Amino acid sequence: MSNTAKVELDGKVYEFPCVVGSENEKGIDISTLRAKTGYITLDDGYANTGSCKSSITYIDGEKGILRYRGIPIEELAEKASFVEVAYLLIMNKLPNASELRRFSDLLTRNEMIHEDMKVHFEGFPSTSHPMAILSAMINAASCFWQGLIDTDSDENFEIQAARLISQVRTIAAFSYRKSRGLPIIYPKPFYRYTANFLHMMFSEPYQDYEMDPEAIRALDMIFILHADHEQNCSTSTVRMVASSHSNLFASAAAGVCALWGARHGGANQAVIEMLQDILKSGDDGSRFMEEIKNKKTGKRLMGFGHRVYKNYDPRAKIIKQICDDLLHNLHMGDPLLDIARRLEEKALNDPYFIERKLYPNVDFYSGIIMRAIGIPLEMFTVIFAIGRMPGWIANYKEVRDSASKIYRPRQIYVGNTLTSCPTINERS
Ligand code: CMC
Repeated sequence: MSNTAKVELDGKVYEFPCVVGSENEKGIDISTLRAKTGYITLDDGYANTGSCKSSITYIDGEKGILRYRGIPIEELAEKASFVEVAYLLIMNKLPNASELRRFSDLLTRNEMIHEDMKVHFEGFPSTSHPMAILSAMINAASCFWQGLIDTDSDENFEIQAARLISQVRTIAAFSYRKSRGLPIIYPKPFYRYTANFLHMMFSEPYQDYEMDPEAIRALDMIFILHADHEQNCSTSTVRMVASSHSNLFASAAAGVCALWGARHGGANQAVIEMLQDILKSGDDGSRFMEEIKNKKTGKRLMGFGHRVYKNYDPRAKIIKQICDDLLHNLHMGDPLLDIARRLEEKALNDPYFIERKLYPNVDFYSGIIMRAIGIPLEMFTVIFAIGRMPGWIANYKEVRDSASKIYRPRQIYVGNTLTSCPTINERS
């Protein structure tokens, strides 16, 4: 059934077509609004704006559903590896055995950064946040491989995608080693994706890191759960940059910058800092909750709330289970986990959180898993970035393959009306 929306403006009625997605999501196509009426729409924070049609990820925030290319996140977490999920997102199909072998080979062949890039790590102060280094080094990669600037051929694209997924992990581990004054550890071709990352992070030149299969699986799962999340802030940033026909690496570097903020990917670091503060203050969480609710300090319960999920984030459910299993299997306790559980219980029973539909999101328990694996706090958001890379690449490709226009929103100007330019002596 084709539907139209009628808008009455200045006494005239205009009709706009409705669009319906494959899961019955409904929108009004207002792309001719300004041309027909002279009006634009105003939607602060874009909460009601569909910026594109996409076939990558589906979310139903009311029902707590997340699917990559139609497959529920719960099934992927159980049956697939991160590399398989990356392939699914980018190529729009789960790889069969030979496709997986080919893609894994491509990742291995592209795992080393250009040797001359290593010198750049020396230039950053040891206090640098690894997200700053990550973004700078991803962007710098196109200086070392001029071919990265070519975005046209499909074959070249597959190599670029593999290079980015593989090298982001190498750059991340190198930046961590440098920030600690530790020697760089090169990847080993026989390790799988996530094991190789842990090797580059924690091995020493004289001793290989002892791999715990539980830790590898937990981190792989974190990557899977972060791999895509439709039009969030960083993915929209990647699409925005891609729409100007910038290259894949430049677009992904911009995504890293957008992800860094505490309201987005930076929340996983902020959750642990919040839990540490509560622990240090001797509070059982009650005082902190009161502080949040009276809003005087502007503090939020980090790891809670989501623009789209108005129900339990399905990723948080899985991550909470992984967290419980990992700590149990490693025979570890964490006082921060006890506080987190208490805060969750309080929040889920508190009218402030119930009325606003605030539930734990993916970041609430992921930091506790990363602590248990030994990943330092400042690397948490970098882990998110490694996981999100396939989603950014898939979204970049969707923009590249469509005839989409450059992204260029309008605004409602509310500044001065025509004002003359006074000379310096006339200015107050
Ligand atoms: N703690 C306390 N109050 C909150 C929280 C929170 N975590 N989140 C939202 N609220 C309140 C907010 O103060 C506002 O209250 P009121 O109606 O009285 O003004 C109301 O809920 C709506 O908040 P909003 O900021 O308009 O909601 P939003 O949809 O724009 O924000 C959010 C979504 C994720 C930015 C927000 O919930 C938040 O800041 N959460 C904490 C940071 C966080 O955990 N971020 C990770 C998100 S999941 C991973 C990712 O996608 O990066």
